[in-house]
Amino acid sequence: MERKDFILSCGYACLGILGFSSLLQSCSLGSFVLSQVEENRLTLSKSFFVMTNTKGTTYKKYIITKAEGIQYPIVIYRKAEDNYNALLLRCSHQGAELTVNGDVMTCSAHGSEFGIHGDVLQGPAEDRLRSFAVQSDAQNIYIHLT
Ligand code: FES
Repeated sequence: MERKDFILSCGYACLGILGFSSLLQSCSLGSFVLSQVEENRLTLSKSFFVMTNTKGTTYKKYIITKAEGIQYPIVIYRKAEDNYNALLLRCSHQGAELTVNGDVMTCSAHGSEFGIHGDVLQGPAEDRLRSFAVQSDAQNIYIHLT
């Protein structure tokens, strides 16, 4: 490869990286946060859902959290100010970790899909996802792990 071609390739690669990172930053569907288990529950600030820009305040549809001692991440969907649901991202078929794609959680192992309430949209899985009781107050969301 000649020097000119190399510099051109590097330029395209940098533009691609910049474009991809700005795409990630503008993603309004969800985000990932770390949390801690205390007294068998996770506490997450509601502020994790908040997105503020020049047009005002909007909310992420979901956040994904991972806590020490819990093998799989948990997704928390925000349906309204005080209405959340939390699901373990473990496929009910054979236990593979799920990925969240908006309103659908998908399993790359055999193709199962689940809805935001943990219901099976597509098999081979037959059982719902494990869900957790969720409470909230003015500042926080509490996910009860039992
Ligand atoms: S482990 Fe998820 S579909 Fe089989």
